[in-house]
Amino acid sequence: MKSSFLPALAAITPALAGFDTWAPAGPYEVRGPCPMLNTLTNHGFLPHDGRNISREVTENALFDALNINKTLGSFLFDFAITTNPIENATTFSLNDLGNHGVLEHDASLSRSDAYFGNTINFNQSIFDETRSYWVGDTINIQMAANARLARFKTSMATNPDFSMSELGRNFGFGESAAYIVVIGDKETGTVPKAWVEWVFQHEQLPLHLGWKRPAGLFQEDDLGRWMDELERVTNATESGEGCPVAKQARRGARPPRSHFGF
Ligand code: HEM
Ligand SMILES: *[C@@H]1O[C@H](CO)[C@@H](O)[C@H](O)[C@H]1NC(C)=O
Ligand SMILES: *[C@@H]1O[C@H](CO)[C@@H](O)[C@H](O)[C@H]1NC(C)=O
Ligand SMILES: *[C@@H]1O[C@H](CO)[C@@H](O)[C@H](O)[C@H]1NC(C)=O
Ligand SMILES: *[C@@H]1O[C@H](CO)[C@@H](O)[C@H](O)[C@H]1NC(C)=O
Ligand SMILES: *[C@@H]1O[C@H](CO)[C@@H](O)[C@H](O)[C@H]1NC(C)=O
Repeated sequence: MKSSFLPALAAITPALAGFDTWAPAGPYEVRGPCPMLNTLTNHGFLPHDGRNISREVTENALFDALNINKTLGSFLFDFAITTNPIENATTFSLNDLGNHGVLEHDASLSRSDAYFGNTINFNQSIFDETRSYWVGDTINIQMAANARLARFKTSMATNPDFSMSELGRNFGFGESAAYIVVIGDKETGTVPKAWVEWVFQHEQLPLHLGWKRPAGLFQEDDLGRWMDELERVTNATESGEGCPVAKQARRGARPPRSHFGF
């Protein structure tokens, strides 16, 4: 009896999901350029192989782990699915998200530009540049603006292929807002630096550092409000003709900001 029961148990183990469950990607499993989706996958909130992720699974994962409104989860899934090269696909795999120029953009906070190589793997030296602008135990919007501007300038100065679409630019505002207000406090726009560093560097939820699933539902308006604030602070920090980031941002017409700026 026992010998037939044990393999059955082993077979269901990979399906376990939760805050207390965590394992990095195995040899045939994939991850992508998004530190948070990788994190949720390592915890099993998303399928551990990182593949064939459906709308419902995405909505449930973001809700169960982070208390993100399922309508917002569904909206984000609509972006994810555009990265799957298979026509009319109904799922995406995490590595699809790294396809350069769809959602994936230059000047990431922790990944190389496509020109230099791999856009999916965490890159410590790039992340070290980013976090050098988080000059305290608590990250705020000004620090996030400074970090993002610095990464833009470095990429523009070193990458002869640098490009930034409006979608990429807006996604970047969303990502920088998200590491503060999804992981941290959406009322004050702040987050303990240790939590954010843990997520980026370990792709694990920082429960041992005091993080808990947020009590309040994270809404579309929360993201929109903090993306706008980040853009406002960015403009106030660096503007005018001398600023290559501002020039780049003015290139091309700005599409209508349906929803919250994407
Ligand atoms: C279905 C939902 C999501 C999708 C489709 C998605 C997609 C992506 C993609 C494609 C990137 C790569 C952009 C680039 O740097 O080139 C990215 C980066 C990022 N995402 Fe997500 N993401 C999702 C949810 C989240 C959530 C909930 C958070 C909350 C913290 C988050 C935080 C980030 C951050 C901070 C980055 C920037 C990483 C870097 O610049 O190195 N994402 N995401
Ligand atoms: C699952 O994803 C892989 C790529 O990671 C793809 O080749 C395969 O067709 C997908 N399967 C389904 C059923 O969508
Ligand atoms: C989730 O967001 C949608 C769209 O913003 C909103 O209509 C809905 O009421 C929200 N759900 C909850 C439970 O607040
Ligand atoms: C994808 O969907 C469109 C619209 O429904 C359809 O015309 C097309 O034939 C589909 N392509 C494939 C490969 O199924
Ligand atoms: C990390 O990024 C830097 C700057 O683009 C690059 O020189 C370095 O080779 C990258 N490291 C790895 C391990 O890819
Ligand atoms: C920031 O500056 C850009 C370019 O000048 C402008 O289009 C945009 O409306 C400004 N955003 C905010 C939130 O002030």
